[in-house]
Amino acid sequence: MSNSITIIGSLNYDMVTYTYVLPEAGQTVLSNHFECHYGGKGLNQAISAGKLLAPDSHTTVRMVGKIGDDSFGKELKQYLEDNRVSSNHVLTEKGVCTGIATIIVEQESGENRILCTPGANGKLILTDNELETVFEDEKERDYPGFVILQNEQPDPVTCISWIKSHRPNLIITYNPSPFNEEILLDKRIWSCVNVLVVNEGEALTCVKQLNSFSVSEIKDKINSNFVHGYTVLAKELNRVLNPESGSSLVVITLGSRGSVYATDIDSQYIPSLQVEPSKIVDTTGAGDTFLGALVVKLAQKEPIEKAIKFATAASSLTVQKRGAAESIPQYEDVMSMLESH
Ligand code: RIB
Ligand code: NA
Repeated sequence: MSNSITIIGSLNYDMVTYTYVLPEAGQTVLSNHFECHYGGKGLNQAISAGKLLAPDSHTTVRMVGKIGDDSFGKELKQYLEDNRVSSNHVLTEKGVCTGIATIIVEQESGENRILCTPGANGKLILTDNELETVFEDEKERDYPGFVILQNEQPDPVTCISWIKSHRPNLIITYNPSPFNEEILLDKRIWSCVNVLVVNEGEALTCVKQLNSFSVSEIKDKINSNFVHGYTVLAKELNRVLNPESGSSLVVITLGSRGSVYATDIDSQYIPSLQVEPSKIVDTTGAGDTFLGALVVKLAQKEPIEKAIKFATAASSLTVQKRGAAESIPQYEDVMSMLESH
């Protein structure tokens, strides 16, 4: 059984400063230290999928994106190739720089603040011909592949609509990050996407898609019992997601509290794996790890509950290392983490 996972999205060179103190406007402070890492939501998700494929898996992972004509871009492409991700569809754009993320990580908590300069990612608008070329081989596969998109590209919605109408067998996974309310509430997203992975804030914005509840009603439910509240929300969102498909999935990630999911037939809360606060050094890339890991398991037809547990373990390891893509664990590390819990 061979299928594919295609990630359409951003590649960034992450410039990360670790500091105890954050500067105020007009202030200069000394930080602790500085590191460069491979990142970008698209690349991180691709690396997560590549690293977390079971060693004997026949699924292929490929990245579609743009880099600048510089050494950063070359390094990012090489990193994909070194981690079982094909970079044949990562194209070099002349005259622009590779995407850059300036990241400040607070030394105490591992929390990050990210400023993104799109560079070549801003040119990732795929024409119909380019999409035809990328997805040429998807016409013949007997087992459906997955596509993952996020918002670090100019127009994910048009791309999603093209895939839905030209390759209806592909399972479209969308992670609306960084947050953009206009894109998230676009009707086309809701009629095309099969798997929606949102965080708490994005999930609450999505309430505007529903006729059944208002934001304040959902907030009341969450405040009285967060598992119940978010489960109701996940179920309601799943009802409006791609209604004809009959196989949609909504996952709401709740950070250190775990996640809830809902499909057409069931819903469940999956707690997080507790990580000692002193071991959390850098949360960058944790959400991307979760998504890549989830899709790898779904592509291998694993039950959703098992797939989310695997993704939860993977992201709990990512926060214990510095950087984004390089902090994503290997398959064996996630398996031993799961065995020890
Ligand atoms: O999701 C984490 C990523 O966001 C970082 O790697 C950074 O590049 C930004 O895109
Ligand atoms: Na990390």
